[in-house]
Order: sequence, then structure tokens, then C-alpha cells
Amino acid sequence: MTRAGRGRGAWTKKGIIAASVLAITALHYWTGTEHMYLHQVYQRGYYLPVILASFWFEILGGVVTAAGLALLYLVHIWRDWGHHPTYAFQQYAEILMYLVIAVLLGYLARAQRMTRERLEKTGSDLEEAYGRLNQAFEQIRHSDRLASLGRLSAGIAHEIRNPLGSIQGAVEILGQDLPEGDPRGEFARIARQEVARLEKLTGEILAFSRPAPPRRMPADWREIAGAAARLCDDEARRRGVSIVGRLDAPAATLDVDPEQVKQVLINILLNAVQAQPEGGEVRMHGALEGDTLEIAVEDDGPGIDPEKMESIFDPFFTTRREGTGLGLSISYQLVRNNGGEIRVSSPPGRGACFRVVFPTGAARS
Ligand SMILES: Nc1ncnc2c1ncn2[C@@H]1O[C@H](COP(=O)(O)OP(=O)(O)OP(=O)(O)O)[C@@H](O)[C@H]1O
Ligand SMILES: [Mg+2]
Repeated sequence: MTRAGRGRGAWTKKGIIAASVLAITALHYWTGTEHMYLHQVYQRGYYLPVILASFWFEILGGVVTAAGLALLYLVHIWRDWGHHPTYAFQQYAEILMYLVIAVLLGYLARAQRMTRERLEKTGSDLEEAYGRLNQAFEQIRHSDRLASLGRLSAGIAHEIRNPLGSIQGAVEILGQDLPEGDPRGEFARIARQEVARLEKLTGEILAFSRPAPPRRMPADWREIAGAAARLCDDEARRRGVSIVGRLDAPAATLDVDPEQVKQVLINILLNAVQAQPEGGEVRMHGALEGDTLEIAVEDDGPGIDPEKMESIFDPFFTTRREGTGLGLSISYQLVRNNGGEIRVSSPPGRGACFRVVFPTGAARS
């Protein structure tokens, strides 16, 4: 219910209470004393507004109502029942009962409200805990999947790497023996190029499956981010994209492996650049929130479809023809190994925003 709705509701309730008090009082005043049995009925009728007021407005509401109606009723008793002291005494006793009932019911209503509020709070706490549990469960599942994929791909990469070294040596030797201008030189060049591509891929697979332990040290995030932006600048310029970094503030020291965090930012920046084939802008900035630093990278590309959001951190998930799909899965691990978190949002039609969050300060958690 809205605040205005609650306010209107409260005034309606006050109106009901006041109307019933006035109606019963009017009946008392208008009914002659020869109809004592009717007065006894009205006298009990006063319990209705007292009960309602205590129930709706607790002790204060009940007592104010009981006191108000007692005043109105007392005038009536003094004016019309002076000749009947026994009945007048009963009426005084009833006034006392109104007050007792108001306090008791008001107290019960307050206790009921507090129990309800406690239950509501427990409910929302439980809901929050359930959300966190679900998130942790998802993370475990993701890590589990990563670990088994990592073992499998590490085995394959390892097996490929050794013969690849021999092929590379053989291709070099074959290429050297070819006379200048021999058309087979072109095949040798293609073979060398493809071997280099496979080398790079196996290197990435091994980096993903057996990430090096971070060498953490106090590091200024602005230096790391600046170096990452400079390294991506060439690729960005080739694609007509400008990387705009607001790296002058805030100052914050992170306890991370600077090389690994730089690698993460490069992966994210390159993705942002590659998402804008028509050119555009990639913005990077930092923000301090409590004792965490958030480095955000935003682009104006097409963004990420909600149904793909779940998969972008999975190894080998890619939508790019020349992509391997390892950039983000490596980044995910590196960030976690360095004590941080990586988040992504992509509001429809507004590009993608990747946020890397690290605790600040050189103290190790
Ligand atoms: N800024 C972005 N905008 C839109 N889609 C993105 C963005 N960043 C990542 N993605 C999506 O996430 C996928 C996975 O990214 P990831 O970096 O892991 O692999 P990749 O870029 O395809 O290949 P590579 O291994 O060469 O980095 C991308 O193929 C793309 O679909
Ligand atoms: Mg990538």
C-alpha cells in the first residue's frame, strides 16, 4: 500500500471511531431516563469504538478514544443520572473498564504488529540468503565445469604442443632449402603461419587450464589500466575505435598481480573494440565504492543477448569467426585468483559494460 493510501486509510478509521462515539453519545442524550435498559445497551456499545481504536492505533489510540468518550459520557451521567446513584456507580465502573480494555487490547495489537514485522524481516532475510545460496551454487557449478573442461583441454593442448614444435622445426628447415622465387615458398609461409596460430591457441588453452598463481603486490590500478589501454590502442585505431580512459581518479592501490589484471583488461578492451566493427568509442573508468574499486569498460556495440549472457564466460564460447572463446574464461579465473569479481551488464540497445571489482588496499584478505 502506498504512503498516501495508508494515510487515507488512517483517516477513514479515525472517522469511523469518531462517528460511532458521537452516535452512541447522541443516543444516550436523546433517550429518556425511563428507558434504563436502552442506556445499558448503549453503555456496552461504547466498547465498539474502544476495541476498534486499540486494534488500529494500539495503546495510545485506545486510551485517547476511551478518555474522549468518557468525558462525553460523564456529562450525561452528571446531568441525567444524579437521582440514581446505584446506576451512576455502575456507569463509572464501566468507564474504568473502557480504559482497561483500551490498554490491554492496545498492548496486544502492538505485540501482534511487532511479531508480524519480525516475521516479515525474517522472510526477507531468508529470501536474500536463498538468493546468495543460489548464486554460490551457480558459481560452484561453473567452477566445476571449468575444472573438468580445463583438465581435458590441458591434456589435448599438451599432446598437440610437442609434435607442433617438431612440425615447426621441420617447416623451417624445408623452407630454408627452397631456392629464391620457388612457388613452394608460399606453402612454407602458410605452414609457418598456421603453426604459429596453433602455438598461440595451445598457449591460451594452457593459460586457461593451468593459470599461473598470481604474484600479488601493491599496485596502482591507474598504471595497470593505462598500460592495458596503450596495448590495445593499435588494434582499436585499425578498427576506427577510440579508447577513452578516465584514469586520473580515484587513486587506489590494489593487492593483485599487475600483469594478470592487465591481461584481463586487455581481453575486455579488445572484446569491446571487436564488438564495434563500424568504429565507435570504448570508455574505461574507475570508481571507489566503500573499500572496493570498480574498473568499468563500456562500449556502444550491439551488446550481449540475454540468452548468451550465461555462456560468455564459458571456455570456447565465441560468436566471432576468428575468436577462440577463451578471453573471458581466462579473465574470469584471473580475476577470481586475484581476489576480485567480474560483472557484466548489457541493457538492451546500450552496448555492454564489464566491471572488474577488487578490494582496495595492500592488505591481503
Ligand atoms: N563487449 C562485448 N560486446 C558484445 N559481445 C561481447 C563483448 N564481450 C564479449 N562478448 C561476447 O562474448 C563472447 C566471448 O568472449 P571471449 O573474449 O571469451 O571470446 P572471443 O572474444 O570470442 O575470443 P578470444 O578468445 O579471441 O577472446 C564473444 O564472442 C562475444 O560474443
Ligand atoms: Mg575476446
